[in-house]
Amino acid sequence: AAEDVAAGATAFKKCVSCHDVGPTAKNKVGPVLNGLDGRKSGSIAGYSYSDANKNSGITWDEANFLDYIKDPKAKVPGTKMVFAGIKTEAEAKNLWAYLKQYDAE
Ligand code: HEM
Repeated sequence: AAEDVAAGATAFKKCVSCHDVGPTAKNKVGPVLNGLDGRKSGSIAGYSYSDANKNSGITWDEANFLDYIKDPKAKVPGTKMVFAGIKTEAEAKNLWAYLKQYDAE
């Protein structure tokens, strides 16, 4: 099935306790997720990352986002993001389609 932005918005409800997107987004428990496509891991100013996330060497794109979100601790050992709520690749792809709409502010 094609990527589905609306389904991605629904899936993002699993993230909003910790993450914000959009023009008025603020860092919460986790960093703002604007401009994620092409962004270097650990690069949001004013957010206190783990060393693991800061030094992962990842530049976020669809492929490594899909890999990360199914098991963050496998992709970034030592990350402080504790979350394993995205079960299917379809849901992860929808999330990426949703997040990609938000440019860096
Ligand atoms: C980091 C996405 C859910 C807490 C990140 C990063 C991404 C991400 C891409 C890395 C950002 C960067 O390198 O700048 C998501 C998505 C979620 C989700 C799409 C939902 C599907 C959550 C939840 C929590 C959380 C529910 C809190 C329980 C964090 C924290 C970090 C982080 C604390 C910083 C990790 C570190 O410094 O080690 N998230 N996240 N995330 N997220 Fe999430």
